[in-house]
Amino acid sequence: MKLFNAMLAGAVALSFSVGAFAQAPITIKFSHVVAEATPKGQGALKFKEVAEKLLPGKVEVQVFPSSQLFGDAKEMEALLLGDVQFIAPSLSKFDRYTKKIQVFDLPFLFDDIDAVDRFQQSKDGKALLDAMQNRGLQGLGYWHNGMKQLSTNRELARPEDVKGLKFRIQASDVLEAQFRAVGANPQKMAFAEVYQALQTGVVDGQENTWSNIYSQKFHEVQKTIATTNHGVIDYMVVTNAKWWNGLPADIRAGLQKAMDEATAHANKLASDLNERDRKRIEEAGKAKIQVLTKDDVAAWRKAMEPVWKKFEGDIGADLIKAAAAANK
Ligand code: LMR
Repeated sequence: MKLFNAMLAGAVALSFSVGAFAQAPITIKFSHVVAEATPKGQGALKFKEVAEKLLPGKVEVQVFPSSQLFGDAKEMEALLLGDVQFIAPSLSKFDRYTKKIQVFDLPFLFDDIDAVDRFQQSKDGKALLDAMQNRGLQGLGYWHNGMKQLSTNRELARPEDVKGLKFRIQASDVLEAQFRAVGANPQKMAFAEVYQALQTGVVDGQENTWSNIYSQKFHEVQKTIATTNHGVIDYMVVTNAKWWNGLPADIRAGLQKAMDEATAHANKLASDLNERDRKRIEEAGKAKIQVLTKDDVAAWRKAMEPVWKKFEGDIGADLIKAAAAANK
């Protein structure tokens, strides 16, 4: 009888724990470094909303904006360790995982965000989503932010104006070469540290989109923002390939669907949010927006052009050609 009771208790305990396990939602963490009122911030919130609607009781998505959980330096490692399930770093931050992705950083390669979009949706662009599988990263989609503008604590219009100035850059060798090409001193730095570095004069300037400049208040600590549109800040949403492939099929399908909806949402918003924030910066009247002439832009393009050749071997001439062909 004693033995029977013990077995019964064991069986009950086991069925309870199995039952509890089967019913507990999977906790999914999505970490990113920007503010919520940006294209990426809005995309992450949309992903949570749709995933929890499509998979009620099965998943719980927690979104951590503004480097609250992990900043630039740690988020990739955290993803590979399983401490977070989704991140969406800028395309500039993947060059340790695949050299091909450096194509997105080549200065003046894309005329505008529509060209970037056409390339991302092409066969070559889609192939890059799978290019880091052997390093444990699975790309699930591209999210737009926008074209980069250049800001400094001086008057700024021509490439000669930045000679000797220190610029914060994202962790990208192409961006490093880009600033060296104009005689400036680039410094790799995590996004969360930029405002303070600008405010205290650790660096003189930086490059970013209107939405990032406004939401981080960079315009309050810079004198000029020049409308260079010389490159792009876009994102790849990535997950841990092993975790993703190990999910039950219905959950993976639901999350992919939520990701597709979030992608469409973020990409539809991106241009409007950047336009809105450009106006807000203008209205704030702190930094001057220097609208560049065609001639100014041509001078920047010419000064930065040697960077293409330097990285052609790593990226591949064919891939650069395919990306350039996305311009109309
Ligand atoms: C930056 O570091 O400037 C950007 O990549 C931040 C971001 O995620 O938009």
